[in-house]
Amino acid sequence: MSNTVIVGAQWGDEGKGKIVDYLTDQTEIVVRAQGGNNAGHTVISEGVTYILHLIPSGILWPSKTCVIGNGVVIDPVSLLEEIDTLAEQGITVEASRLLISNRAHLVLPSHRAIDALKEARRGDQKIGTTNRGIGPAYSDKIDRSGMRLHELFDENFSARLKENLEQCNLLLSEAGIENIDVEGSVTAYAKAAERLRPFVCDTIGFLHQALADNRSMLFEGAQGTYLDVDFGTYPYVTSSNTTSGGACTGSGVPPQRIDKVVGVIKAYTTRVGEGPFPTEDDGFGDVMHGMGREFGATTGRERRCGWLDLVLLRYATYVNGIDELAMTNLDGLDGLDEIPVCTHYELDGEKLDLPPASAADLERATPIYDTLPGWKSPIDEVRKLADLPEKARDYLAYVTKMTGVPITSVGVGPDRTQTLVD
Ligand code: GDP
Ligand code: IMO
Ligand code: MG
Repeated sequence: MSNTVIVGAQWGDEGKGKIVDYLTDQTEIVVRAQGGNNAGHTVISEGVTYILHLIPSGILWPSKTCVIGNGVVIDPVSLLEEIDTLAEQGITVEASRLLISNRAHLVLPSHRAIDALKEARRGDQKIGTTNRGIGPAYSDKIDRSGMRLHELFDENFSARLKENLEQCNLLLSEAGIENIDVEGSVTAYAKAAERLRPFVCDTIGFLHQALADNRSMLFEGAQGTYLDVDFGTYPYVTSSNTTSGGACTGSGVPPQRIDKVVGVIKAYTTRVGEGPFPTEDDGFGDVMHGMGREFGATTGRERRCGWLDLVLLRYATYVNGIDELAMTNLDGLDGLDEIPVCTHYELDGEKLDLPPASAADLERATPIYDTLPGWKSPIDEVRKLADLPEKARDYLAYVTKMTGVPITSVGVGPDRTQTLVD
């Protein structure tokens, strides 16, 4: 298999974990290149649900190698919790199978505290972050004041962490917020450093050797295009480049070695957190939540729900260079008489086919819909694309026609077996 980048083409939670898991069979190395444990990727196999946050979903395949690249921000304590949870589920994560970049940045307890503090101060302008310290960790990286994984093993690491946490506690005290337990955190990070030591290496050397040996790679994107710090609904975004370019800068694999970009979309749209969402439909959301669907994998929050938005999808195909679409959750539309799909926006009397730069303008934009007929029958047991109801196939054909991009896989349920490709 070629080297493939998997990106979310909406606001995250498109089902990237499930698609990566499906494609891992045909690949050798699975790489995460951006984001942190704000991600929550669900894979369901043989009745067992696995939720991956920092570790690439490929870890569920014992013969595959996984890499956490330089562009990821890592909370070492929560990474070890994830490793332990996987062990309880029968998945052993050995250092021979998980390589962590020594250039990746650390998420510190101070980053988590500042994330919470800034959100509280934003009031009704809050972003609705996952509170994992992601924004402050990337801020320090760009500010050139962050700490990287290799520094965990420096003699003075504990002293530097202590100093960092004490400084943060001054800020927290001023704000009347509970202080960080400095001694407890320093001990936890020192312990984590010892456990993680065998995993941490120069992943760039490893990946380039793998390229030279023609070993195939899958890049598992986290978040989605509209959470990208450049292309998303700024400022209601995350703090990394979630689009396909992030796979290169976050791994050290150059662009000409990427063969294909697959954009993952839901058959509708969801968003967790604050920010504009033109096709949001609370009634549709209530139906989905009533069915027990669309609760966040990381925070458990209800996801906001709405219709497929081709304006966003069009722009996502541009900025990611999407070659193929993987559509998940088609079964989520099973019960509907009619399915609205947004083709354009209207804003101040103008018809737009690309999203405006300003979040405030996007908030004001009115979606213009086409309406497609529903198929009104369950499809979760269908195993071949040709066996989907005709109106479901029409829905897929319509999306392909409107985006100019083929849909090469369709999800009819969360299980590994519920991905249709032919
Ligand atoms: P990710 O962050 O992009 O990996 O996606 P999440 O795992 O956060 O959210 C996707 C949700 O949809 C999870 O609960 C998956 O189990 C579920 N899912 C994925 N594909 C399908 C599908 O085709 N049908 C149904 N019913 N659920 C799906
Ligand atoms: P996966 O990889 C959905 C959202 C948060 C918030 C915004 C900023 O599972 O698709 P952050 O904590 O990153 O500073 O929060 O981004 N967000 C996600 N939404 N899926 C994700 O990841 C997300 N990661 C962050 O809800 O709106
Ligand atoms: Mg998710």
